[in-house]
Parts: sequence; C-alpha cells; structure tokens
Amino acid sequence: MYHNPVLLQESIDGLSIKENGIYVDVTFGGGGHSKEILKRLGVQGKLFAFDQDEDALDNSLDDNRFTLINENFRYIKQFLKFYGIRKVDGILADFGVSSHQFDKAERGFSTRFDADLDMRMSKKNNISAYDVVNTYNYDDLRKVLFNYGDLRNANAMAARIIAKREEAPIQTTEQLKDILQQFMPKSKEHKILAQIYQAIRIEVNQEIMVIEEFLVQTPEILDAGLSFIGRPFGKTVYTGWAI
Ligand SMILES: C[S@@+](CC[C@H](N)C(=O)[O-])C[C@H]1O[C@@H](n2cnc3c(N)ncnc32)[C@H](O)[C@@H]1O
Repeated sequence: MYHNPVLLQESIDGLSIKENGIYVDVTFGGGGHSKEILKRLGVQGKLFAFDQDEDALDNSLDDNRFTLINENFRYIKQFLKFYGIRKVDGILADFGVSSHQFDKAERGFSTRFDADLDMRMSKKNNISAYDVVNTYNYDDLRKVLFNYGDLRNANAMAARIIAKREEAPIQTTEQLKDILQQFMPKSKEHKILAQIYQAIRIEVNQEIMVIEEFLVQTPEILDAGLSFIGRPFGKTVYTGWAI
C-alpha cells in the first residue's frame, strides 16, 4: 500500500465539504484523503491536489473534477491562479513523508535500509542529504541536528561528521550511522538514528520554511479569508503529522 491515510474521517469532516465547493489537498501521496473528498463533492465540485514527489503521479485519480499538480505546495497560489482559481472553500494538508517514501529503500528516508544519502521528496530539489552531510559547515550542521532533530549531542555530532568527511566523502546512510554510532547507546539507537534522519530530511526539503510560505498564502486563498489550523470550523486548514 502506498500510504495509509491518518485521521481520515476526522480531517475530511473538518473540511465541512460543500457539494459544489472547490478544495485543495496539498499532500496527495496515495490519494487517500483526496478520494474521500471526491466522495463528498457533487458534480460541480472541484478538487486540486499537489504532490512534489513524481512517484505520487502513479496514484492520480480518473475523475473530471480532479487535477493533480506535481509541484511544491509552497507555490499554491501561483498554480491555482494558473488554473483560474483565486478562492477555494477548504485546504487539507497532511504534512510529512508517505509510507511509500519510507518503504522505497533507494530514497534514503528509512533507518531500515542502507542507501545513498538522498532524502529528496522531489528529484527537482536542489540539495540532497549528501550535500547537507558533506558540504554544510560546522555551525549549520549543528543547527540542523539540534533544531530539527532535537539532538542533545548536536555539536559533537557535527564535529565528528566534519572530521570524518575530511578523510573521505560520506556516501551512504550506513556510513553516516557508523560515524555517529558512538552517540547512540544500544537502548536508544533506533530513536536517536530516527532523530538524525528526521533532522537531515527536514533540512533537505526545507520543510519548515515551505510550510511557513504556504500558511502565509492560505488566508488569501480561502474564501472567507480566514484559516483555522486543525479545527473543524468553517473554512479549515487541517494539519496532520505522519511519521
Ligand atoms: C503524509 S503523505 C500524505 C498522504 C496522503 N494524505 C494520503 O492519503 O495518501 C505527505 C505527502 O506530501 C508530499 N509533500 C510533502 N511536502 C510537500 C510539499 N512541500 N509540496 C508538495 N508535496 C509535498 C509528500 O511527497 C507525500 O507524498
């Protein structure tokens, strides 16, 4: 299965879908949420979906009310405008990574597999995990590990990465894990490794900045000019975190 949608009924209920409304699912993935939205839309309704991952295109839905846009949702306003849409009735966002992205070993997202340091949600992304690990200076690297991974040993980890990459570039997730092994006591190994991966992934995909840029645009796009995050009330932006 591509992805098991989280809080499916709750999030769709939260959108309070109007039969002939216009909706946006900015994180299409396997299309679980989009399918539910379409079930509640009438023949005049419209659903626009975004996913920056080229793999998500294989899940596109054959429905003339539906349009899938293979772009980053940070450009939501611009792309909706391209389709002649200035206002919508609701936006759904299920931020994060899909199970498919975790399950595909070569994408480098999962602690379960050895892979090249990649972690890009879109092949168009300018930087990969390789760039973060091999080119960021000490200060930037430690900030990534501390701010996005909540890693207590961020400073020492950054120093160790820099020392080791001077010997040879760090190419794979397994090499990175070996280099940082000393910071992972056996009992906490999985948790700390997941925090390291999460930090690098957030940086590679600029996840925080992208969400900020997206949220700034939502009040202008939503019909009532208001957005409510995670609250089923009127025009709703529903945020969900899938880990
Ligand atoms: C948690 S999954 C969503 C799963 C989806 N709700 C479903 O039912 O299958 C998040 C999806 O959003 C996509 N995504 C994450 N950040 C994105 C962004 N900035 N722009 C476009 N798509 C993004 C990912 O590629 C992934 O497919």
